[in-house]
Amino acid sequence: MKDFKRRVAIITGAAYGFGREFVKQAAIRGMKIVAVDIMGDELAKVEAVARENGAEDITLITADVGIYEETEKVVKATLEKYGQIDLLMNNAGVAVPGNGYNLPLRDWEWIVQTNLMSHVYFMRQVIPVMLKQGTHCNIMNTCSVAGVINWIGMVPYYTTKHAAVALAESINYELQAIGADIAMGVFCPGYVQTNLDHSEWYRPERFKDDSDPYYQSEEFKKGQAEAKHVIETGYPIDGHAEQVWKAIEEDQFYVLPHEKYDGFLKLQTGEKLQRKSPNLAEVMAILKGGHA
Ligand SMILES: NC(=O)c1ccc[n+]([C@@H]2O[C@H](COP(=O)([O-])OP(=O)(O)OC[C@H]3O[C@@H](n4cnc5c(N)ncnc54)[C@H](O)[C@@H]3O)[C@@H](O)[C@H]2O)c1
Repeated sequence: MKDFKRRVAIITGAAYGFGREFVKQAAIRGMKIVAVDIMGDELAKVEAVARENGAEDITLITADVGIYEETEKVVKATLEKYGQIDLLMNNAGVAVPGNGYNLPLRDWEWIVQTNLMSHVYFMRQVIPVMLKQGTHCNIMNTCSVAGVINWIGMVPYYTTKHAAVALAESINYELQAIGADIAMGVFCPGYVQTNLDHSEWYRPERFKDDSDPYYQSEEFKKGQAEAKHVIETGYPIDGHAEQVWKAIEEDQFYVLPHEKYDGFLKLQTGEKLQRKSPNLAEVMAILKGGHA
């Protein structure tokens, strides 16, 4: 996607971190922006950043992307105001530290709805709009290096990010199979200094239960402390959004900014981290019409 001027971008998780940086980049390129976040009060600051960087048209929407009806509200408002959607950035996400077999089910449901189902909800509504438009469009989903490697301490996070990568890869094949003019991508960074270690700020009411002793346990506190440590000692955020936008310009599928993880992936899968974009024709040639 090379032509951005006056085209329409929906960016979720826009209040902090990567989302705010993506809004800035969209503003620099003259896009009409729909900035979405559960932390609605913070969005006025995002609008200020966008305007400073040249945005002429920005719409702020407070929504919980883990609820289908709220994502419907976003898509409807975008189409009513702008009549089209050219770029979808599914970026909102939470990190829920914790061991895979002790974590309360409500925390599993929270992270699955936020990190995975939100992608399903938006793509389900936006892809038909993009197909009907017939213009070249792009969908860039923020996943994580945790979507291509596995490690201890954040089992639900690894699980949802792997699922989000698989979802994007599979939908990408489906789009290629029908010759759709929609490019897709997955942004897979390692630890970066954002507010991700404060995901508890974003916990919706329906996932709160102060009476559950788990949230007073040493295990919970240890998980929070570890998340704080890895995010605070992570890569500085500068430059990541520019890299993602370059990938959007070049219709690149995998955006894997940190070479450090190459060896890790190779160890787990025998593959190098810089994976090639999924290509339907190549896969069909290997399968030769069947799986048996
Ligand atoms: N920072 C990292 O180390 C890192 C690494 C890999 C991937 N990521 C991913 O990057 C994405 C952005 O996170 P970030 O690092 O910028 O963290 P961040 O906490 O700074 O930003 C996350 C944003 O998502 C919003 N959000 C959370 N739940 C929401 C919901 N239910 N509905 C709407 N908005 C919601 C938050 O309000 C916040 O603005 C996430 O998907 C995260 O998993 C981050």
